[in-house]
Amino acid sequence: MNLLVRNIRQLVTCAAHGAPVLTGAAMRSPGLVENATVLIEGGVFRWVGPDVDFHLPVPEDADILDASGLVALPGFVDAHTHAVFAGNREDEFAMRADGKTYQDIARAGGGILNTVRATRSATKKELKKAASRTLDAMLRHGTTTVEIKSGYGLNEDGELKMMEAIRELAQEHLIDVVPTFLGAHAVPPEFRDDPDGYVTLVCERMLPYVTRKGLAEFCDVFCEDGYFSVEQSRRILSRAKELGLRLKVHADELAAVGASRLAAELGATSADHLEHADDESIRRMKDAGVVAVVLPGVSFFLNHGYAPARRLIDAGVPVAIASDINPGSCMSFSMPLMMTIACTQMRLTPEEALLASTINAAAAVGRSQTVGSVEPGKQADLILYDVPSYRTIPYYFGVNHVRTVIKRGTILEFS
Ligand code: NIG
Ligand code: FE
Repeated sequence: MNLLVRNIRQLVTCAAHGAPVLTGAAMRSPGLVENATVLIEGGVFRWVGPDVDFHLPVPEDADILDASGLVALPGFVDAHTHAVFAGNREDEFAMRADGKTYQDIARAGGGILNTVRATRSATKKELKKAASRTLDAMLRHGTTTVEIKSGYGLNEDGELKMMEAIRELAQEHLIDVVPTFLGAHAVPPEFRDDPDGYVTLVCERMLPYVTRKGLAEFCDVFCEDGYFSVEQSRRILSRAKELGLRLKVHADELAAVGASRLAAELGATSADHLEHADDESIRRMKDAGVVAVVLPGVSFFLNHGYAPARRLIDAGVPVAIASDINPGSCMSFSMPLMMTIACTQMRLTPEEALLASTINAAAAVGRSQTVGSVEPGKQADLILYDVPSYRTIPYYFGVNHVRTVIKRGTILEFS
């Protein structure tokens, strides 16, 4: 698709200028261009800059879009989601409002296992239908790339059904999907008395099958008290690495169990959650180049502490923001809302929150060479917002400010 977008009031490029990810002070420079033009050819950005400097010939078949008065940003990358699931957990939401904690509910057989029961009884078609509606809504709210995890099957059939649903969504939906295998999301009831037996099943049967079929790019583990220990997580992640997958860890969410240190030890691409990460873990993540994916919506929704995002950035760790949309700990996919919470509760500046949701989030899913910024040669995922300034997006919260979604150079029409 060829498209010329001109008269953009304010374009924020989120450019990394060839760097794989942004850290420290660089997270305060989002690349602002006032009165900008963007030329897209073949679904890729060809030229980006001020209107006055644009002198290239415009392809004859190019559509021309006048973006006067609008703000343009790269599409958001949501680097951590559980967007494929069945059922809902409204009852647990009400129980938490009434004083129960996430852990109380999980111990009583609710939590992840509640969604596992619903997901096991759903067909692949039903899972895809529900997820596809979520992905449609994500696109309308400015998210153009999404990572999706399995983890509500927890047996061979269930995990395979989820991974196939994720693959088919990747093929059929306009949004870009990054698939992650999370067979170790919780110990299934069948293995309550033999959690190591489940770890063996994941290592010996599920992981080899998933990699042979090319169903996943990443392997993740919920490394936490009551879920998988550091030792069990190390077994699974080492096996995944041997089989050629890249690694992610649900780390230090409910307690400091050493999960983010494990992420550093194994060279994981990202460590996610990190509410309880301490200074030593932060140092090790920095040395190992692990991207810290913080999930502001989870702390907000579960009403527990926030990840030390300010300290992570100040220590030089690349920080990304994701929604973690899932029925238990954050039933929202809104990246602007996540940015608002990051600014008000984690003390990120709007610029840091924006770069954490775009270029750094792309790095957290191994895509920062192709998406996450508006730079020549990158995939043309561009969102136009009806706001006076990019800072209005996190500031004026709870409202969808998106006017136009451009995916790979095509203007999407929503019914
Ligand atoms: O990222 N922490 C573990 N997993 C999810 C929650 C999943 C669920 O409650 O269904 C999370 O918060
Ligand atoms: Fe998660």
